[in-house]
Amino acid sequence: MTLPWWRDAVIYQVYLRSFADGDGDGIGDLAGLRSRLDYLVELGVDGIRLSPCYPSPQHDHGYDIADHTGIDPDYGDFEEFDDLLAKAHARGLKVVMDLVPNHCSSRHPWFQEALAAGPGSVERERFLFRDGRGADGSLPPNNWRTQFGDPAWTRVTEPDGCSGQWYLHMFDAGQPDFNWRHPDVSTMFDGILRFWFDRGIDGFHVSTAHGLYKHSSLPDWNGDFFNSYAWNQPEVHEIYRHWRCIIDEYRPERELALVGDLSVPTMIDLASYLRQDELPQGCYGDLLEQPWNPDQFRFSIDRAFAGISPTGATITWVLANHDVHRAVTRYGIIRHQGYHGSLDPVIGLIRPRGPVDVSLGERRARAAALLLFALPGSQYVYQGEELGLPEVLDIPDEARQDPAWFRSGALDPGRDGCRVPLPWSGKEADYGFSHGKSAFSPWLPQPEWFAKYTVEEQWEEETSTLSLYRNALRQRRKVFRPENDRITWLDVEGRHDVLAFRRGDVVCVVLFGDAPLFLPREWGSVMLTSVPMTRDRWLPNNSAAWLWTHTPSRSTSATRFREGWNARRQ
Ligand code: NOJ
Repeated sequence: MTLPWWRDAVIYQVYLRSFADGDGDGIGDLAGLRSRLDYLVELGVDGIRLSPCYPSPQHDHGYDIADHTGIDPDYGDFEEFDDLLAKAHARGLKVVMDLVPNHCSSRHPWFQEALAAGPGSVERERFLFRDGRGADGSLPPNNWRTQFGDPAWTRVTEPDGCSGQWYLHMFDAGQPDFNWRHPDVSTMFDGILRFWFDRGIDGFHVSTAHGLYKHSSLPDWNGDFFNSYAWNQPEVHEIYRHWRCIIDEYRPERELALVGDLSVPTMIDLASYLRQDELPQGCYGDLLEQPWNPDQFRFSIDRAFAGISPTGATITWVLANHDVHRAVTRYGIIRHQGYHGSLDPVIGLIRPRGPVDVSLGERRARAAALLLFALPGSQYVYQGEELGLPEVLDIPDEARQDPAWFRSGALDPGRDGCRVPLPWSGKEADYGFSHGKSAFSPWLPQPEWFAKYTVEEQWEEETSTLSLYRNALRQRRKVFRPENDRITWLDVEGRHDVLAFRRGDVVCVVLFGDAPLFLPREWGSVMLTSVPMTRDRWLPNNSAAWLWTHTPSRSTSATRFREGWNARRQ
């Protein structure tokens, strides 16, 4: 049976603006990415997820799209895009793009037309315009708040110069939400999907996939953590049933990926998006919220298997992305300092505040990487995690760009710190980020300590985080078989600070605590550890190992199987 490639692919998330700059303007672009494709091949990933590179005023760095079928000149043009795609494919790398269907940019022609056409117009029906409350309409139509914590409605000035209607935006005011009850919206997105699939991309990562539809009467929200009128409406499933038909039109020649970024209250909700005729994949973001704690990790992993496996989908694991603090910093927090005000409590988990022990965080993040790659399913790796980069926490206020920081009145540290342009080489900024000599500084300032995290510094260094990732990805291909899609937990007597499981012939063990762990002989021989072992079979604190119980003859057939399986993938 032919298995779709995406079921167990490792996808590297490229945040284009910060990956590599090909034209020296201080902003990452398609040419920069193209020049680094060999790095990704050597790293050992199967494909890339490309953050939005469509024309955009960049109020939310590309997640505010003004034209869904164009390329922003900051990032390049179609010639460069096509060349990137061809070169990625020539190297065996898949390319998955971000699709943002919940909203567009306020510069989108439809929104501009809606502003000009005035209340009651057909043009306004493509968005969620409403009259305000109160005698003069000066109060917002309901009490909803944006994902950034502030009011979700903005009042417009009508063509006659008077204050007028309000429009809904669940993110920045520059990102008006579409009205998915209007047929023009779904027709436009059908065209967008086909446009990019026909251009040759391998799939879409659907941003805020649980959004799109809003409750038809837009009632006041009761203040619960999850606004159940704004998200996860039953009608949204129709969209995915329809998009599933679109991707199926390309089969069997092409197995297109369609992975939803889903943030919903329960696993039953999550599974409902993964029904046979809906999204083939949904990101499992729960681990992003878990602190360095074995019980919480285990609970989260079990929850994923219990909820997702019955749907037939594999699990799409995520340990970091462009919206959360880097793993080194999350796991290195020594004391959590809470948040106050109207912020969603999840922000305290994904972007925690508090003193950080960076070297401890580094050890833990390396251990977490081995755990991630041992799990059955697909994994998303956010750029820079393979370098063990910590979050840049001290970006000067005047350099900050993220609307999450501005709109929360600086309560939320925002996401700039995980988006600082990558360090490639050299001892000083821009650390090889811009190709050749650049007259411009990188769009976010890089700290001096980036010097020790460059690709150049880590490439040949056997003990570097980059070498660990390369090794782990190489070994993963060899020793894990896709049909071993379950794990069996192993108990270690008297140790509650250890998580260990068997997957096929491999045992993955993660030590969360400080006392070294003797690795039982029956687990097999040690194949890979996240930090060097100084005593035979003694796993040091806050680290992880893979052990193999394979006999040499079976090992050969496993490798052959895996290679054969890869050859059958398309
Ligand atoms: C989800 C994206 O991951 C995030 O970066 C963005 O701010 C929101 N969608 C709004 O588009």
